[in-house]
Amino acid sequence: MLIEKDFFTDPEILVDPYAYFEEVRRHGPVFQPPGKDYVIVTGFNEALDVFLNAKDFSSSIALQGAAAPLPFEPEGSDISEQLERNRTGILGHDLLVNLDDKAHVNLRSLVNRLFTPSRLKANEKFIESYSDELVRAAAAKGKCELIGDIATPFVTVVIADLLGVPVEDRQFFMDVIAAAPVPGSLDADENDYSGENHPMVVMGNYFAKYIRERQLNPRNDILSELAHASYPDGTTPNLEDLVNLSTFMFGAGQDTSAKLIGNAMRFIVDEPGLQDRLRQDPSLIAPMLEEVLRLEGSSKITARLAVRDTTIGGVSIAAGTKVAIALAVISRDPARWDEPNKFTLGRPRIKEHLSFGRGAHTCAGAPLARVEVRVLLEKFFEYTSKIDLDPLRHGEPAARRLTFEPSFIVRGLAELQLVLEPASAS
Ligand code: HEM
Repeated sequence: MLIEKDFFTDPEILVDPYAYFEEVRRHGPVFQPPGKDYVIVTGFNEALDVFLNAKDFSSSIALQGAAAPLPFEPEGSDISEQLERNRTGILGHDLLVNLDDKAHVNLRSLVNRLFTPSRLKANEKFIESYSDELVRAAAAKGKCELIGDIATPFVTVVIADLLGVPVEDRQFFMDVIAAAPVPGSLDADENDYSGENHPMVVMGNYFAKYIRERQLNPRNDILSELAHASYPDGTTPNLEDLVNLSTFMFGAGQDTSAKLIGNAMRFIVDEPGLQDRLRQDPSLIAPMLEEVLRLEGSSKITARLAVRDTTIGGVSIAAGTKVAIALAVISRDPARWDEPNKFTLGRPRIKEHLSFGRGAHTCAGAPLARVEVRVLLEKFFEYTSKIDLDPLRHGEPAARRLTFEPSFIVRGLAELQLVLEPASAS
């Protein structure tokens, strides 16, 4: 039975995580699957209960996920002190997404100051010209492999430009990212961030070098601002914190944004009439992307740890309970959305979906993701008159053959071969 399968390791669930989570939802919006030591939240309001209750739910396990064992045996109705004593035993314990309370507020305040609308505006110019170059070349060839040849290098170079990674190092970063294991790999051995050859560590060494350089010689880039930043309470971050933050920002914006491009493209080619509408009226691309995020956002799951006895949607949750939040389906909850599994362009209040999370840890890169994916798609519509999937590789619309990344976190295609009919003017 589906409910007995293991979301975190089962390759079959990769293809259709929605069927698995809908089965979980049938047992209630907060449910502990048989034989598992975590609960899964599939309800929209219940997920909000967790996201907005940072007092009772720690983010310390957001990265390692709800299935991984805790480095201690929880005891009593309040495990906050136990957690603090054992925090370093948790994967990525010093990364922004896993921090709580003051440590999170401090580091997050730096991010919020960096991703300002004016910085994003300047970056958008670069996004425009780079995406123009990539898509124009693909359209001239009449085909492309969207994920590996366009989306992945595109998002890597865009975030590199935003942060201020020197042009001469960008190919190196593209190669490291291309060879990196996907975050939340179904192969647990690939999820250890401590080894000196792990891509995050390799890139961290570069970021340490950049920040040291900019401490001596500031430039007009985000890395220079980071190098000279201070926390709201006036204290100064140490080099390790800054390196962790910049590496994490760099890494967090890779697979998520690249896979969103692929997920959006599937709707564009397979939803009848959609690409013609978007080509005629590019202002519909932004709301289309929100609907894609709602239905098929590129993050499937995150996690929290209950630090004291509490409740989710009226269900009692004991301190020490690991909580998986099923991002894949909380924005398909029929209690919140009409016809939740149907693609509907122009849904009212669409931006209320939870695919970028909510609360203190809301995705810091959401504005960037929205801009870069929209602009790239605009270029596809500008330079083509028709986009299709290669039927030899992916089959016909009614029976597509698609390969998904083997990750419990990332929802996205490993490759997508497109056939492009160039626009007559290009
Ligand atoms: C479609 C693309 C993206 C999706 C679906 C996505 C999704 C998410 C989600 C769901 C969270 C919250 C995790 C939680 O609460 O446990 C998150 C956090 C985060 N995201 Fe994204 N993300 C995307 C793109 C990006 C980009 C482009 C960047 C960086 C430039 C980025 C940087 C971050 C950071 C730094 C956090 C942690 C924030 C914190 O803990 O305070 N993300 N993202």
